[in-house]
Amino acid sequence: MQRCTTLTLARHSRLLLRSKFALAQCQQSAAMSSLLINQPKYAWLKELGLSEDNPGVYNGSWGGSGEVITSYCPANNEPIARVTQATLAEYEETVQKTKEAWKLWADIPAPKRAEIVRQIGDALRKKIKVLGSLVSLEMGKIYVEGVGEVQEYVDVCDYAVGLSRMIGGPILPSERPGHALIEQWNPVGLVGIITAFNFPVAVYGWNNAIALTCGNVCLWKGAPTTPLTSVAVTKIVAEVLEQNNLPGSICSMTCGGADIGTAMAKDERVDLLSFTGSTYVGKMVAMMVQERFGRKLLELGGNNAIIVFEDADLNLVVPSAVFASVGTAGQRCTTTRRLMLHESVHDTVVESLAKAYKQVRIGDPWDPSTLYGPLHTKQAVEQYLAAIEQAKQQGGTVVCGGKVMDRPGNYVEPTIITGLAHDASIVHTETFVPILYVLKFKTEEEAFAWNNEVKQGLSSSIFTKDLGRVFRWLGPRGSDCGIVNVNIPTSGAEIGGAFGGEKHTGGGRESGSDSWKQYMRRSTCTINYSKDLPLAQGIKFE
Ligand code: UN1
Repeated sequence: MQRCTTLTLARHSRLLLRSKFALAQCQQSAAMSSLLINQPKYAWLKELGLSEDNPGVYNGSWGGSGEVITSYCPANNEPIARVTQATLAEYEETVQKTKEAWKLWADIPAPKRAEIVRQIGDALRKKIKVLGSLVSLEMGKIYVEGVGEVQEYVDVCDYAVGLSRMIGGPILPSERPGHALIEQWNPVGLVGIITAFNFPVAVYGWNNAIALTCGNVCLWKGAPTTPLTSVAVTKIVAEVLEQNNLPGSICSMTCGGADIGTAMAKDERVDLLSFTGSTYVGKMVAMMVQERFGRKLLELGGNNAIIVFEDADLNLVVPSAVFASVGTAGQRCTTTRRLMLHESVHDTVVESLAKAYKQVRIGDPWDPSTLYGPLHTKQAVEQYLAAIEQAKQQGGTVVCGGKVMDRPGNYVEPTIITGLAHDASIVHTETFVPILYVLKFKTEEEAFAWNNEVKQGLSSSIFTKDLGRVFRWLGPRGSDCGIVNVNIPTSGAEIGGAFGGEKHTGGGRESGSDSWKQYMRRSTCTINYSKDLPLAQGIKFE
């Protein structure tokens, strides 16, 4: 995930850019013929409006004159196409245009705004397969999951259409005669959205659909390693806005790295900053936003556990653990990283799981039979190897996997490690790779405590048939996570609920339920329609 440094650092590095540009241009002409987009097999990329070189700025018109970045396919490390990122001057111009568009957008009634969101959902439906394929090619997740995250955007658009007729506050009973106590909700204004590589469509979608319906305008910076997806999504959204004669800057985009991210975090004009990424970067972003008393919505790391009790239906446990720990090659915030097994089922489950791991079909992510693709970057492969090394040093045994695979691309073996202490430092670390730490426990009390002892608090699951235990798990001394499941895995949440987690996960909630409140400001309005001026609490001030 992207690392935000300071603006000062960005300025220093710009001095180096000119010479880098000259070099990049030479490399570009050499690479021109080898870009995947030029190969007949990938001609479908053009259906998304993509070409060899793509503008990385949209604010009603397309532009971008910053650093040129090449997007690589994680399955073979071949270059797909290039995107020209935003300069800080282009960021500035975009914020101004986006703010200007807000004046118009905020005045449109919510159900009418949602009609535009409905059209965005429909436009995405038409491109769902081709956009899902791009996600698969650029992020590296398997095709059905690529399509699945476009489906999440479509679903949240539908959800937002209904929501548009329901958002609002109550009229509360006033203690004063002839007075009305009304809660009014207004849009915050400009919502900055910084998303991560692992869900390059869905997370933008959750924020975009709800923010728009609530009357906000959006400015998006996607991950620097999935820029083609950001451009393709923005093209679909922009077309809808333009066809409705609305300013395109209602949904602006500035592709970029730490310099743009830092500018957004420090910018007082960004009324809410929604950030998805690592806890490390999220903390820096949060401090910058807090410094200016801005609003933030953080979706940071997870260290999610599945707890399997002695009475669990093991037919559900094994496929759940495989989906949540091997799926998306372990690169979901909701991935299961810790599997706690009751001592009575430990050996049986480990044995079945190791068997299931060996049957996972590994291959090109866009191949329909593949279940497991590559890691997103070469750095992730290094992190995988380092984590395995540390786990061994801390007393872990590799039961299955543990090696980099001998094939092109960033492929590593999905890995199970047993024998570690529940509080070993590696077990308490979120490494964004497919390594599952299996822990053995004796009592419910111990298992619940281990679930909660990590810094992160995103997702958690138990497998049991004991109704009392289910309600203890949901209760005050149960799981302290934002997502608390029973007999299903930790990943794969639906859009209808509020998504997010506690503690170092950042506390934000996105998507369904009353998450819309994060995108609005609340006014408590007391209106006196009488001829008297009674004071609250019965105070006489005469
Ligand atoms: C993420 O990993 O950042 O619940 C989001 C899930 C998906 C979203 C994950 N619906 O696994």
